[in-house]
Amino acid sequence: MIARRDLFRLAGASGASFLFAHAFGGCASDEPLGPPLPEDPLGRWWLSGNYAPVPDEIEAFDLEVEGSLPSDLNGLFLRNGSNPATRDSLHWFTGDGMLHGVRLEAGRALWYRNRFVRTLALDATMPDNLAANRANTSIRAHAGKLLALYEVAVPYEISPEDLSTVGEYDFAGQLRRPMSAHPKIDPTTGEMFFIGYAPFAPFLTYHVVDARGALTRSVEVEIDHSSMMHDFQITESWAVLFDLPIHFDTELLESGFPFRWVPEAGARIGLLPRDGSSSTVRWFEIDTCFMFHSFNAYETAEGRVVVEGCRLPSLWADGTSDASQTPSPWRWELRLESGTVAEDRLFDGSADFPQIDLRRAGREHRVAYSLQFDDVGDREIAAPNGITKLDRRTGERRVWSAEPGHQPDETIFLPRGDGEDEGYLMSMVFDGTTRRSYTAVFDATRLEDGPIARVHMPRRVPFGFHGTWLPNL
Ligand SMILES: [Fe+2]
Repeated sequence: MIARRDLFRLAGASGASFLFAHAFGGCASDEPLGPPLPEDPLGRWWLSGNYAPVPDEIEAFDLEVEGSLPSDLNGLFLRNGSNPATRDSLHWFTGDGMLHGVRLEAGRALWYRNRFVRTLALDATMPDNLAANRANTSIRAHAGKLLALYEVAVPYEISPEDLSTVGEYDFAGQLRRPMSAHPKIDPTTGEMFFIGYAPFAPFLTYHVVDARGALTRSVEVEIDHSSMMHDFQITESWAVLFDLPIHFDTELLESGFPFRWVPEAGARIGLLPRDGSSSTVRWFEIDTCFMFHSFNAYETAEGRVVVEGCRLPSLWADGTSDASQTPSPWRWELRLESGTVAEDRLFDGSADFPQIDLRRAGREHRVAYSLQFDDVGDREIAAPNGITKLDRRTGERRVWSAEPGHQPDETIFLPRGDGEDEGYLMSMVFDGTTRRSYTAVFDATRLEDGPIARVHMPRRVPFGFHGTWLPNL
């Protein structure tokens, strides 16, 4: 737990007072419990428990480390998520972006701080709907820029020094359309690829950014409707598109979250030339499903394309607040010679927030990491309860099962050797028994042994979406 000396080093105009008033509440400094978890009076899960936002920005220094932090772990662990400043939002996806950063150096945890992304939507208190860019979904670094990303808007540039917001980032005026939150970076060329989708034509645009950060190509993709394309992939030759049956519906615009499950539209995976030399997609029909996140895609020796991801048999059939379905790890093989697809479960159990060694992005990977989930029961959202590591060559699976009451967020892999498990895994874990969070660091070669270090946060970190590791240069 936080030590008395650390308590007095907590900083931040409102943060310190919040911590004194609520987290410690006049109790002794070794009081282990965080403040009671919020419960939304309307029962909305994304505003309750550890999904609920924290109210302010704080800093803490010289964090307590349980176990041993590797001395070669030097950099910044970053998380992004939805944290509505008004403490109200119509959907989990529409809250203000909040970044949480943990700086590690030479075996010490130097600081934690959380900062709102200072978007125009936040500062102007724009109406609560998907159209207001909250920059809340992910954070990625490319060509010296650190970008907070949203589903359907331009990025915001962030300073890695203090997580402050530099401003909207439009690639020197070249990006005039939305950028979605899951760009892909080719580990060999250093190029970044991304898509943007929109409710009105042009519905889908594909973009290429060179290794120096210049947006060099934007291609309007031939498609006659707008579907929610949360993720996409690259291979060495292709951009891989997921046209799945969550469509924009202009009749729902006033709802602020205008998506509809339309299973009759079917589902398909598309291949577009990666170099952007054509706007024509070759589509492959798959069994109807939805997928937020994919592990990777690659080409086989026969020229087939394999895509692995986290499949939901349906999504939001009973409304867009439903998050009770548990995703399954899935594999699709696109057979270009016949235009057919072979698909099957990748392994038993559940999986989402997939990760690989990003040095294998677009090439066949050996090791896949993901979160596994509890049986949802009668709850409204499936809760992660551990981390899975799959060796695709042997089929062996190893699991870290979190302690009862602990819930990990997306886990990222930091390579340290040549092997795809030679390195560290990092995850922000919420401990429901203390109502606090910690950053867990694992040796990826022995994930199942549990964290080699836990860096204790000064208070809970709400469950978020995506993060990254920014190594010291
Ligand atoms: Fe995502």
